[in-house]
Amino acid sequence: MATRCKTAILISGSGTNLQAFIDAVAAGNLDLELSVVLSNNPDAYGLVRARNAGLATACIEHGHFSSRDSFDRAVALKLNEWRPDLLILAGFMRILSAGFVDRYRGRILNIHPALLPAYPGLDTHQRVLDAGEKWHGSTVHFVTEELDGGPRILQGRLPVVAGESASQLQTRVQAIEHQIYPEAAGWVGEGRVQCRDGRTWIDGSATDDPIVQTFDLSGNRL
Ligand code: GRF
Repeated sequence: MATRCKTAILISGSGTNLQAFIDAVAAGNLDLELSVVLSNNPDAYGLVRARNAGLATACIEHGHFSSRDSFDRAVALKLNEWRPDLLILAGFMRILSAGFVDRYRGRILNIHPALLPAYPGLDTHQRVLDAGEKWHGSTVHFVTEELDGGPRILQGRLPVVAGESASQLQTRVQAIEHQIYPEAAGWVGEGRVQCRDGRTWIDGSATDDPIVQTFDLSGNRL
């Protein structure tokens, strides 16, 4: 049997995406070994989710470090205890230094709640509503030094509903994140999707466009 891809999940908050990974592995739909869940926030509810699932946890509080580099070195040192093949950023609210990204180049994934390259940064749901966009969604991408700018793998998109609030939109976007993030991570774990020469490679072909999946108003894949 092939060795499963050892995966670390980095969180800062509620961890609903983490829960989606836990559930997908438990259901036999995702072939990753979830080695450790690391948080920079000791109060992150995701740590409770991880413990409830019997996963190893670690907490490195960024406030205890004088610089981004020293925090990142401590995170890398801690992760080394598990030697993960893949890092999943799931609501990890720290920008990683160039040195850290380089150390794990091509092996860090993030999910960003917008159809990148549109709307990098924060407050995406409100900005999408303010702009009157018809479509919104989320993007799974490789992490590079450029914030929210690494090669894209998979996008889930859904129609914006007239008059909905930013929090309603966020809830709908998160529901599709819970489907697309484990799926894309599974592709990377099995080697179907790779990051090489700053591009995404899918089944041996380089591409600059992500795979796009469209969802209906109820969050079902069309
Ligand atoms: C997600 O919506 C993701 O797009 C963003 O952070 C949020 C994390 O939510 N990067 P959760 O902690 O997984 O519930």
